[in-house]
Amino acid sequence: MSNSVEQHIEERSIFLETFGCQMNELDSELVQGQLFSLGYSFCDSRSDADVILFNTCSVREQAENKVLSRIGELGVEITEGRQVVIGMLGCLPEREGKRLLGKYPQIAFICGPSELDRLPSILQQAVLGEKMSTTDRVALQGNRSRRLAALSAADDTLELLDLSRVFDPDFRTSTGSSAYVRITRGCNKFCTYCVVPNTRGAEIHRPPDAIVEECRSLAQSGAVEITLLGQTVNHYRYTHNVALNSDGEEVPQIGPSITAFSKPVDETQRVTTFANLLQRIHGEVSEIERLRFVTSYPKDFGDDILEVMRDCPRICNYLHVPAQSGSNRILKMMNRGYTVEEYLEFIERARKIIPDVEIAGDIIVGFPTETEEDYEATCDLIRKVRFKNNFVFHYSPRPGTVAIDRFKDDVSKEDKRRWLNSILELGGTISGDVHKAYEGQTVDVFVERISPKSTKQAQVELMWESGRVQLSGRTQGDLICVFDVGSEEEANKMIGTVVHVEVTNSGPLLLEGTICCNYEK
Ligand code: 5AD
Ligand code: SF4
Repeated sequence: MSNSVEQHIEERSIFLETFGCQMNELDSELVQGQLFSLGYSFCDSRSDADVILFNTCSVREQAENKVLSRIGELGVEITEGRQVVIGMLGCLPEREGKRLLGKYPQIAFICGPSELDRLPSILQQAVLGEKMSTTDRVALQGNRSRRLAALSAADDTLELLDLSRVFDPDFRTSTGSSAYVRITRGCNKFCTYCVVPNTRGAEIHRPPDAIVEECRSLAQSGAVEITLLGQTVNHYRYTHNVALNSDGEEVPQIGPSITAFSKPVDETQRVTTFANLLQRIHGEVSEIERLRFVTSYPKDFGDDILEVMRDCPRICNYLHVPAQSGSNRILKMMNRGYTVEEYLEFIERARKIIPDVEIAGDIIVGFPTETEEDYEATCDLIRKVRFKNNFVFHYSPRPGTVAIDRFKDDVSKEDKRRWLNSILELGGTISGDVHKAYEGQTVDVFVERISPKSTKQAQVELMWESGRVQLSGRTQGDLICVFDVGSEEEANKMIGTVVHVEVTNSGPLLLEGTICCNYEK
């Protein structure tokens, strides 16, 4: 890069807004790190930025509409004379980049999740005022992520994005002591409603050594909690490919492992399973006090994983394992590949092996043809499982999915809204009971932040008395727990540590408690 380009870039301030899931949050962090190390700076407001990047989500129509309305507003500002470079990243351009570039001339460039390793050069072109060529536009249309799975391991440039992670403490202050680490990319499940297999591509597993090394570096730069990410995280399975050299010796081949094509020669020696990986991270990176993983798929979840969770004290007793529906007929139409009975069998097995495990899930209401009876079946499932919480969504027909082609979106808006509200109400009552069961117990809380409520109160109350400050954190089972401390100084010291809290009160959303005197572990 020439000096003049460097100067040019250093003057640019970027605003990056992220929509959607934890995968997107991680992609944004990695992209931000890459650009930070190239000299770009970041700002907190759209109006101050020279470059605006939207890392988009395509899972539901609502998420897409949000970003498109931002693009519309910026279009008006540009016609009124504002100079700004707009880039669209993530799942939305992967799905329909060509149409977006045609419809919104204010978008300078697009970059799908499978192209993020190329973002610095694409951005540089855009900053220097070079419009994307037609070939570039077309290159993004080929769904590189699914094609990628068919390429040889060495061609996986995506691995470079994770490997390029910046551990600079100045940069990491934004993410603090909690970090995500990707272990698996993409998804092979093809649930009929879901765009992810199209936008994120086929399931590929990262090499375990690279994952452990990343956890170690994160721990060294201050991370205390790590959440491993995968769309179907429990499917993690790395096959160590071995080739023979000219002397007949085995030489390990480094690169991602592609589920569909992996055929181990010797199961015991050449495969790292998800249970093995958890055990390795827990054993080899002892500074990590909390190890979590999301999102689990209810099928193919072996006892080996549950036993490792039980036996390793720093692996959290928490599962996010979406059921999506409690009706076998709907599950079949969703192509989920399990029945309600199989889901319940898994939950029973998990609770038998880890009695204090907390379970969270996702539910879709108003899937095509869903009836009152199907909705009641979902309520039954929720009552049986006693989820700590469920994320509940209206069915949203997505272009490119099987469901939009095969099934009419025939459930009325009123039914969707009614079912969603009553599921939230039922879930709230159950959450209240789940939280209440902790009253009187002492729990370990990973302290995340001064609770926003507390800052407001403190500002007012400080005028009357030296304010108590409320801290907020999470238990191993991912329950939010708040407690008071005497001063802001004390509070700031506790953030990013694990403390003991005696639970004195509770509600559907959180636990409230008193910090134990010997709070340090
Ligand atoms: N409509 C509604 N919800 C959806 N989800 C995924 N696709 C759709 C869709 N088309 C939900 C699922 C998934 C979560 C991330 O988003 O519940 O688990
Ligand atoms: Fe989508 Fe199903 Fe894959 Fe989850 S498992 S990402 S819902 S296709």
